[in-house]
Amino acid sequence: LRVLVLAGGLSYERDVSLRSGRRVLDALRAVGVEAELRDADVALLPALVADPPDAVVIALHGATGEDGSLRGVLDLCDVPYVGCDARASRRAWDKPSAKTVLREAHIPTPDWVALPHDRFSELGAVAVLDRIVDRLGLPLMVKPAQGGSGLGAAVVRDSAALPAAMVGCFAYDSTALVERYLSGTDVAVSVIDLGEGPQALPAVEIVPRNGVYDYAARYTAGRTTWHTPARLTSEVAEAVAGLAVAAHTALGLRDLSRVDLIVDADGQPHVLGVNVAPGMTETSLLPLAAQAAGLDFGRMIGTLVSQAAA
Ligand code: DAL
Repeated sequence: LRVLVLAGGLSYERDVSLRSGRRVLDALRAVGVEAELRDADVALLPALVADPPDAVVIALHGATGEDGSLRGVLDLCDVPYVGCDARASRRAWDKPSAKTVLREAHIPTPDWVALPHDRFSELGAVAVLDRIVDRLGLPLMVKPAQGGSGLGAAVVRDSAALPAAMVGCFAYDSTALVERYLSGTDVAVSVIDLGEGPQALPAVEIVPRNGVYDYAARYTAGRTTWHTPARLTSEVAEAVAGLAVAAHTALGLRDLSRVDLIVDADGQPHVLGVNVAPGMTETSLLPLAAQAAGLDFGRMIGTLVSQAAA
C-alpha cells in the first residue's frame, strides 16, 4: 500500500497539522507501511491525477481538511481516504449545524445562539449581547462557528467581558457560536471503526493547569494533565461512551472522530463538538486514548488505511 499523509494547508491550525502529519507518517512507517507526507497546496490536484496513492490520511485540521473541500477533491480524483465524506465533514465542522443534528437526535448539547457578524453590526452590539445574555444566562462560551484548537474561543463570566470575546472570535470567523457554559469534567472520547462498527476508546479527562484548555494548554507539554481513563463512575463512563458513538453516528461520520464532552455536576454528559480530523500530535487526545486501549497507534491507522483502500 502507498499512503499519502496530507498535512499543513493554509488554515489557522497549519502548525498543529504539520505535527499531526509527521506523527502519523512516523507511526505508519514504524509498522512497515510505505507512506509519504505532503502539503495540501495548489500542486496537489495534478499530483493526485499523475500518481494516485492507494489511500490518503487527512491530517489537515481546520478549513480545507475539515470543511469538506479537500474530501471533495479526493472524491473527484477517485482516491480513497480515511474518514467521513465531504458532506458529513462540512456538517460536523460547522458547529451550529452539528449541534442542530445532535439536538434532533436527542443528544444533549448546551443551548446556543449562532451570531453572524452582519447581524451584530445591524442590530447594534449592545442590544444583541443583552438579548443573548437574557436567553442563555452567564457564564457563556464564545467560539468561532468554524474553527478548532481553541483559537478565538473564550469563557465569558461577566457580561462586560462579552464584547471583547466577540471581537476575538470574529477575528477567526464571520459567525460566532455563543453557547451556555457548563462547568464540570471535560472529557474527549475517540471513536474508531476497525471493521466492527464505531467503538469508543477510553475517555480522556482533560485538566488544564490554568483552568482553560486553550491553544497553549493543548500543544505545550506540561500545560495539561490527562487522566486516561477519565475519573468517572462506570455508569457515567458508559453513558459518555454511548453518547460519543451516538454523536458520531448521527453526524454520519466514518472511520474515526473525536467527540468532546462535558460531564456536569449531576453526572450528565453533554456533547460540545465533534472533530472529523482530530489532532494526532504528541499532546493530542486520540493517540493517548489508543494507547490506553492497548492499541498500537501505527497499526490502528494502518488498519483504517487498509479498510479505506479495500
Ligand atoms: N482541531 C484540533 C486539531 C483537534 O481538535 O484536535
